[in-house]
Amino acid sequence: MDVCPANLAGAARPLLSVRGLTRDFGAVRALDSVDVDFLAGEVHGVVGENGAGKSTLMNVLAGVVRPTAGGVFLRGEPVSLGGPADALARGIAMVHQELHLVDELCVAENVFLGRERTKRGLVDRRWAREETRRILETLGSGIDSRALVSRLGVADRQMVEIARALSCDARVLILDEPTAVLGPAEAAALFAVVRRFRDEGKTAILVSHFLGEVLGICDAVTVLRDGRLVETLRKEALAGTAERDLAARMVGRELGEHFPPRWRPEEETALEARGLSVEGWVEEASFSVRRGEILGLAGLVGAGRTELAEAVAGLRPRRAGTVLLGGEPAEIRCPRDAVRRGVAYLSEDRRRLGLVLGMNVVANTTLVSLDRYARPLLDRRAEREATLSHVRRLDIRVGQLRDGVETLSGGNQQKVSFAKWLETRPRVMLLDEPTRGIDVGAKEQIYRLIRELARGGMATVLISSEMTELLGMCDRIAVMRRGRIVAVVDGATATEEALIRHASGL
Ligand SMILES: Nc1ncnc2c1ncn2[C@@H]1O[C@H](COP(=O)(O)OP(=O)(O)OP(=O)(O)O)[C@@H](O)[C@H]1O
Ligand SMILES: [Mg+2]
Repeated sequence: MDVCPANLAGAARPLLSVRGLTRDFGAVRALDSVDVDFLAGEVHGVVGENGAGKSTLMNVLAGVVRPTAGGVFLRGEPVSLGGPADALARGIAMVHQELHLVDELCVAENVFLGRERTKRGLVDRRWAREETRRILETLGSGIDSRALVSRLGVADRQMVEIARALSCDARVLILDEPTAVLGPAEAAALFAVVRRFRDEGKTAILVSHFLGEVLGICDAVTVLRDGRLVETLRKEALAGTAERDLAARMVGRELGEHFPPRWRPEEETALEARGLSVEGWVEEASFSVRRGEILGLAGLVGAGRTELAEAVAGLRPRRAGTVLLGGEPAEIRCPRDAVRRGVAYLSEDRRRLGLVLGMNVVANTTLVSLDRYARPLLDRRAEREATLSHVRRLDIRVGQLRDGVETLSGGNQQKVSFAKWLETRPRVMLLDEPTRGIDVGAKEQIYRLIRELARGGMATVLISSEMTELLGMCDRIAVMRRGRIVAVVDGATATEEALIRHASGL
């Protein structure tokens, strides 16, 4: 086999290539003899199902993971990347799928962590703050560079991660699902930066499950399936590819109707919030959800949707207001109260509030429901069987149930998070971006599951930044703007424009 990418017939000279790239994790072959060329001056999309190997490929390019076989070539020369710092020194920067910020440090300190500039022996904080402010400005973000990262929501954290990568002055910028937690405005600002980056002759690599987004911005798209290269689409081939085609190539079959048919909710009110206020975030929000109903919460980043849900679930103190369950006022002061009363909150931030890294899949799944398996000694077998049923139901791709949850791909971690809350057998579910990082095929499964649960009487609050998801799934949609619920619209008849109008107030 010809392994030198420079000899590739007909192609422009690639800036970065992989040949025969293979990576095994124990018995799992995450990448299997993959060949891809990333050209200078292109935005190169990488798509594939959850667990297809996208992050692994990115991690190899960024020096985080070493190949088992095959190699990486920079301008045609083989390189052995010793680690992320080495990759960075060669001009390759990466924004990771999972956030890696230090909570206790401020924004600027995070951006320049490990690369601090000193002045007379002291860290030059003023310079770092100024640089950070400048970079954030190009991203259209108004985050204060002195703010503590622990105070930021996920979208802002993601922006800080992106600023960190941009501050490295790289020639290759790898973005692993950067827009999963961003709203449309933040995503648009990021893409403007990415386009500029490309126009300067550099290479941006974008991993995303938003196929429309990928087709909109990319000059080339590589499709991976089960660790193997399906193909790299360029020019005419790419121009002739619709979202549906790309999805079919990813999953290896035609996908059916995206959203399952609707069911009529029951009459009985399951959850009601009256005049809920959260300091600085939510002002007198009132809403109700019936049994079997799916109520959407729409709004821009920072509108207070997550904070409202967290207040209902006992994760955030309320300044005013009451929560009623089945018509009765319910004391929910902490997450434990919520679980006991059958209220589950699936956080949008799976790494901080969803999963315990270092613990295995079984332990994570049964974490909140452990009491059920204490008889009084822990019934490991029952625990395992319960987990297995979730793994089947949600089609979680995992090697061994005893594998650490951090070894699962991002989308599969999200499914474990979901399983954990299902395992508490809730009557009310607050789902905050439940399909974040989930591939198109698996999204269908999650939608079907949510609908099935609703059919069984589950009252659901669905927070999502994807308008199509809200419109396709919800019976009613409440729109939040600056901490207030400004409209409640019918899910079956509402339009994307109407939601955006209410959310932005224009
Ligand atoms: N550190 C690790 N230890 C063990 N297995 C791993 C590790 N990292 C990845 N894997 C496995 O490699 C495979 C590919 O994972 P990868 O994270 O690359 O998928 P992905 O395409 O990025 O998926 P997603 O869309 O869900 O993010 C998966 O089966 C995953 O479980
Ligand atoms: Mg991934």
